[in-house]
Amino acid sequence: MASLTHPNLVILSGAGLSAESGVATFRGTDGLWEGHRIEDVATPEAFVRTPELVQHFYNLRRVALKTVEPNAAHHALVRLENAWPGGFLHVTQNVDDLNERVGAKRLLHMHGQLKKVRCVWCRTVLDWESPVTVDTPCPECGRTGKLRPDIVWFGEMPYYIDEIMRALETVDIFLCIGTSGVVYPAAGFVRLAAEHGCQRLIEVNLKPTGITSHFTEERHGPASIEVPRLVDELLAESMRI
Ligand code: OAD
Repeated sequence: MASLTHPNLVILSGAGLSAESGVATFRGTDGLWEGHRIEDVATPEAFVRTPELVQHFYNLRRVALKTVEPNAAHHALVRLENAWPGGFLHVTQNVDDLNERVGAKRLLHMHGQLKKVRCVWCRTVLDWESPVTVDTPCPECGRTGKLRPDIVWFGEMPYYIDEIMRALETVDIFLCIGTSGVVYPAAGFVRLAAEHGCQRLIEVNLKPTGITSHFTEERHGPASIEVPRLVDELLAESMRI
C-alpha cells in the first residue's frame, strides 16, 4: 500500500553514478573488467583457484579508491536524503564509499564494500584499508588465507534482500541511476516496484538500457547533470504536497 502523504522513495544506483568520479564501470566494450574476465576475479571459484590474483585485483581497486572523489550526483543524493519528507532508501550495487563520504546514511550496499573484508572461517567482517595477501591472518581467529573481499561475487546471494523487498512493497517513486540492468536481482527491482503499485519509475542513464521499457520516465545524460536536476525537481514537488 502506497503512502497517502509523503511519497516513499527508493533509489537503485549502479556504476554510472560513480563513473564521472573516475571509478571504472563494469561492462567495457571489450567485455573485460579492468583487463580481466569477470569469472577470473569475481567468482568464489576464482578465489579458490587463484586467490593471489583475486586479492591483487581488489587490493588495486582499494588503492584506486583513494584517488577518486564524490561527484555532483553523490552530493545531490545526500541532499535529497536529508530533505526528503517521506521514506527514503538508497540501494547501491557499487562497492565504493563515495556516498558515505558525503554523508549518506540510509544506504545499503547490496554487492558489498571494497573497504571491508570477511573471514570465511570465523565470518567476522572487518573494516579494511591495506592490501590483503594469502598470508594475512584474520585479526579475530588468527587463521591465514581466510580473509576475502566482502564483495558479493557472481553466483552469491546479494546482501539486504529482505530489507530491499520490504521497501519495494511500499515505494511510490523508484529511481534507478547508472545501471545497465543486466545483473539480477537488482535488474528486476523496477518490475517488482511496478507490481506493488509504484506509478513513478524514473531511469537516469547515458543511454537506454535493456530495462528502459519498464520505466515511466527516462532522463538521458550524465548522472552529474541529470541527478542534481532531478533532485531539485523532486524536492520542489515535495514542498507542494
Ligand atoms: P555496468 O558497468 O554494467 O553499467 C553501467 C551503466 O551506467 C551503463 O548502463 C552506462 O550506460 C551507465 N553510465 C555510465 N556512465 C554514466 C554516467 N556518467 N551517467 C549516467 N549513467 C552512466 O554497471 P552496473 O549496472 O552497476 O556486480 O553493474 C551491475 C553489477 O554488475 C555490479 O554491481 C557488479 C557487476 O558485475 C557484482 O560485482 C556482483
